[in-house]
Amino acid sequence: MAKARSTYFCQNCGFESAKWLGKCPSCDQWNTFVEEVIEKTASKVPDWRTEKSSNRTSKAAAIHSIVYKEEARLQTPDKELNRVLGGGIVPGSLTLIGGEPGIGKSTLMLQLALTMPKLKILYVSGEESEQQLKMRAERIKQSSQASCYILTETATQNIFKQIEQVEPELVIIDSIQTLHSAHIDSSPGSVSQVRECTAELLRFAKESGTPVFIIGHITKEGSIAGPKVLEHMVDTVLQFEGDRHHVYRILRAVKNRFGSSSELGIYEMQGAGLREVSNPSEILLSHRESTTLTGISIASMLEGARPMLIEVQALVSTSAYGTPQRSATGFDARRMNMLLAVLEKRFGFRLSIQDVFLNIAGGLRVEDPAIDLAVIMAIISSQQDIPIPSGVVFAGEVGLSGEIRAINRVDQRIAEAEKLGFEKIYISKYNSKGLDISRYKIEIVPLSKVEELFQQLF
Ligand code: TYD
Ligand code: MG
Repeated sequence: MAKARSTYFCQNCGFESAKWLGKCPSCDQWNTFVEEVIEKTASKVPDWRTEKSSNRTSKAAAIHSIVYKEEARLQTPDKELNRVLGGGIVPGSLTLIGGEPGIGKSTLMLQLALTMPKLKILYVSGEESEQQLKMRAERIKQSSQASCYILTETATQNIFKQIEQVEPELVIIDSIQTLHSAHIDSSPGSVSQVRECTAELLRFAKESGTPVFIIGHITKEGSIAGPKVLEHMVDTVLQFEGDRHHVYRILRAVKNRFGSSSELGIYEMQGAGLREVSNPSEILLSHRESTTLTGISIASMLEGARPMLIEVQALVSTSAYGTPQRSATGFDARRMNMLLAVLEKRFGFRLSIQDVFLNIAGGLRVEDPAIDLAVIMAIISSQQDIPIPSGVVFAGEVGLSGEIRAINRVDQRIAEAEKLGFEKIYISKYNSKGLDISRYKIEIVPLSKVEELFQQLF
């Protein structure tokens, strides 16, 4: 009998090596290599990958001779999911949903399974028992007529047997880290198992045209465990993220072969499942009763391709200690320090002896540089104790010399502010070129320097 072939895998990034290494040359992590048996030498187990594909002969075809037909996508009742997928589920597609434990991946998928009564769905769970799933379904309260089948199984060969019997039109796997294939000896969750199981599911999806959703846990570092290899194999990677202490969750397309990878969907975790949030600006603007509060400004920002208005809050107070405190929640602290330095050096605001706290409402983390202007205005409003008039929105990046720089997709940002009933938006002068200002009801004020804004508002 031949020897079983084994190899070493980095458990962090999936790098493969013939011998054990202390440090991974790919991701620089220490002590992450684990030996995994990658091929069983004993009798081959028959499964989905029987010789079917090797009998087929492929021929090269000229690209103009290939007839493309837009395949009908499956529309789910979940509009946010449709949007993130690029307009519904593509037949035969393999989608990976990654996220930290407890963020709501299982809830999202079970909810999908329960809200599509016309579709036969197989929900395979290796994590929870039938009772637990039923309990969750009761909680979501949509379990009445759905034709959803539950299978608690972790061996892929058995799963495929069940698939042949049930003939589902959509398969959900919860989670890929619990599956194991009889072709590989290593334990579930290891790099080679995860890769093999995904490959089997991929073959099944492509050959049968059945869409498959795979749930995958991510590691503390934020990458999908058992890792990059998975991302290359699947058609779409969706990341489910959010702060567990906040109720809002964001579903983000990280990779999408069938749509834009800058789409995102927003949900609210409630007592009875996830609720779609179709108008995020409404929740992100805190319910402000008084307009005399200082240190609050509104920014028009883009999250992926989606415009939304967000509230920036700042508090500037005299420092009680020698070293002033600086803290930013939801915004890059280094960027805040840079903006503070610009205010100090260019405009003479004495911020270096003051504590500055910055907060982005709603628990969101914003990376869009277009909120710079709103950040600066919130800080100055708090420092000077002068409120910013209500109905005003800012959208501009601020440069080191205090210039207001152009941002992308300014028309979308303006349209969003107009839609929500704001009266005035401040943008960069460079953005106003080619912009038909008369088209909008909202007043558009193009500026080139931050000083001009101070003169207008304070
Ligand atoms: P879950 O879907 O189990 O997370 P994952 O599969 O990503 O590990 O979600 C778990 C959390 O969601 C749990 O802390 C409870 C909460 N939850 C609600 O708040 N409301 C609900 O209706 C459900 C089903 C879960
Ligand atoms: Mg789960």
